[in-house]
Amino acid sequence: MQTGKSSIAIDGPAGAGKSSVARILAKKLGFLHIDTGALYRVLTLQVMREGIRPTEASAVAKVAKLADIEIVPGSNGIRVLLNGEDVSDAIREPKVSENVSLVAQHAEVREHLLTLQRQLAAPGGIVMDGRDIGTVVLPEAELKIFLTASPEERARRRMKELRTQGHKVTYKDVLLSIRARDNLDAERLVAPLRAAADAVPVDTTGKDINEVVREILEYLSAAGGLKGCSTDS
Ligand code: DC
Repeated sequence: MQTGKSSIAIDGPAGAGKSSVARILAKKLGFLHIDTGALYRVLTLQVMREGIRPTEASAVAKVAKLADIEIVPGSNGIRVLLNGEDVSDAIREPKVSENVSLVAQHAEVREHLLTLQRQLAAPGGIVMDGRDIGTVVLPEAELKIFLTASPEERARRRMKELRTQGHKVTYKDVLLSIRARDNLDAERLVAPLRAAADAVPVDTTGKDINEVVREILEYLSAAGGLKGCSTDS
């Protein structure tokens, strides 16, 4: 499936810092970062635009089949296009966050995005983050990290991020929404949020992003490095 370059899988619950860690790590290694949550968010946005209930399996599956999703490099990280429109900001709206776990639980949606994710990963040299990357999407990834943090810390981080974007949210509401998403993601029947047996657990509570990245890089060099990354000597 993959070429000579390695792949890294980063999984964990909402707000554990996956995307920030994955982005910095990818930059340091000269790899491409793919945030798979964005793919589920794009489909959720389209489901909402079409006025479909996120629990309606067959209507949601149809949206998944028809949506043309592209991931393109932008000046400030990766941009996500839906039928040619840049929806990178729209998919981060709280309304999308509230519904995305419902859309992500449908088997047909996951099947469809599994193919897309594997196509994106095929060239290798990627850091892919999500919920089921180490267990389902890239079970052969050379390095698997499972990031966690306490729900309270994750809620504080998410609240800060949302307030910076101008959303008026309370800590209590964000914590409730994080807990609801944790439950839906961990308890769904298909590809639930779970650490792969061979994943390295990293708790990010009380640590800043750069500290976490350093920890992963130290682990990587102790394990003998990776194929194809720019830190190879
Ligand atoms: O990482 P995020 O918060 O942007 O992810 C949004 C949702 O997408 C998350 O609640 C669960 C779902 N998701 C998933 O089921 N599998 C993935 N590989 C990535 C995300």
